Amino acid sequence: MSVSLINGSFIVAGLLFILALAGLSKHETSKRGNILGALGMALALVFTVLGVVFGTASGAFPVAPAAPPWAIGAILVAVAVGGVIGVMRALRVEMTGMPELIALFHSFVGLAAVLVGWTTYAAAFAKGHFDPLHSGELFIGVFIGAVTFTGSIIAYLKLSAKMRSAPLMLPAHNLLNLGALVAFVVLTVLFVLYPAGTGGLVLLSVMTLLALLLGLHLVASIGGGDMPVVVSMLNSYSGWAAAAAGFTLDNDLLIITGALVGSSGAYLSYIMCKAMNRSFISVIAGGFGSDGAVVGEQKDYGEHREISAADAADLLKGASSVIIAPGYGMAVAQAQGTVADLTSRLQAQGVNVRFGIHPVAGRLPGHMNVLLAEAKVPYDIVLEMDEINEDFAETDVVLVIGANDTVNPAASEDPASPIAGMPVLEVWKAAQVIVFKRSMATGYAGVQNPLFFKENTTMLFGDAKERVADIVSAL
Ligand code: TAP
Repeated sequence: MSVSLINGSFIVAGLLFILALAGLSKHETSKRGNILGALGMALALVFTVLGVVFGTASGAFPVAPAAPPWAIGAILVAVAVGGVIGVMRALRVEMTGMPELIALFHSFVGLAAVLVGWTTYAAAFAKGHFDPLHSGELFIGVFIGAVTFTGSIIAYLKLSAKMRSAPLMLPAHNLLNLGALVAFVVLTVLFVLYPAGTGGLVLLSVMTLLALLLGLHLVASIGGGDMPVVVSMLNSYSGWAAAAAGFTLDNDLLIITGALVGSSGAYLSYIMCKAMNRSFISVIAGGFGSDGAVVGEQKDYGEHREISAADAADLLKGASSVIIAPGYGMAVAQAQGTVADLTSRLQAQGVNVRFGIHPVAGRLPGHMNVLLAEAKVPYDIVLEMDEINEDFAETDVVLVIGANDTVNPAASEDPASPIAGMPVLEVWKAAQVIVFKRSMATGYAGVQNPLFFKENTTMLFGDAKERVADIVSAL
């Protein structure tokens, strides 16, 4: 197969990835973006496998011979097994399980980068030939891959609640991180100078172990409240790990794709930090949110008041403006379809209904937007926090559906709160607030919410989908 044809297909795939990112930046075009990305990946996979099966040539000159039949068989089996597992997982995963699935996928990218680095090293070791530039690329690739691998596994465990989301605060934990980075720089210089023999092998092994431990420690020491930044940060790391593997393998497409994922993940981390009013360094330093214990429980906020679905429906009938603030509980209850029904019912009665979306609502960047799009809620009534926060004061009724931390007034009113400084949806400024949840339990950050005890707030307890359906029937 001609090298030019393969490179041409890689350029087209790279362009499709860029168009996919552009498509994913807006609700209206996100479906098209997804399809373009999948097309690009299919094209890249097909031409990579064809190149391996038939070998590559530049004009009349052979570049790489066809792989032996056993290797071709192994590749096809790997593609088939990976494809089947991927399709099965994607079909079975609930929207609420997406964040941990993504974290697990990031860990695979990290592991792949480590394996690429180690096999490339093994090949160079066998030949006894090392190029300083390639040694450096390989060393950095294994480092980023190993940090991504263990960091993503901890993120998976935290997001799936298999591990406490409380930050691990070892004494001098920032110094430990800094020390690991300095050690990595020293080991890299030594490896580039002396990659051969047992010395090189020991340097690579020590660095791999160090990076695996650094990944564990880095994510374990980040508090529950900062998990949104961690998800996007690991997304970025997985991209850089792929780009590093691309350098090691001399594969331009992997470099382009990795750089696209790495830089868009870094930008997403910046957006998340801005949304939570945190600097990237303070996220890495860890500790935002509570330590897992319920904070604020001991404070006397007074009594909460309850409301029935029928009374809530009456309140809505008399309203002219309603804002819905959805959160993680809407995803758990799978209430988006019923919420969309309620929206069209109220609109039919002349009520101005809009949605207020907090940037870190749910457990995934854009989680609420995806759910509402799935339920066919029109995009033009779904507004970001900055676009809607000033309007709460002129709103008759706010429906808080399964949101908690993202509507917690303590973030702006109580400087001692563990989430102090995080901008939130200022729902309490509305005339009436109805909170849909099952109990008085705290949200993800483990912080009690004074909103529930305010004079203009009433609680509608139960599963969000069932309670919204009750209101729809009462209307
Ligand atoms: P949370 O603060 O997590 O609160 C969700 C609320 O939903 C809970 O208080 C829960 O109360 C209620 N709930 C759960 N199941 C329900 C059901 N079936 N019916 C009704 N209510 C239900 O939600 P949020 O306001 O969306 O905030 C998100 C939090 O997650 C933030 O702390 C954020 O930092 C963190 N986080 C976000 C991300 C991203 S990228 N978005 C990633 C990781 C972490 P009950 O148990 O009483 O029902």
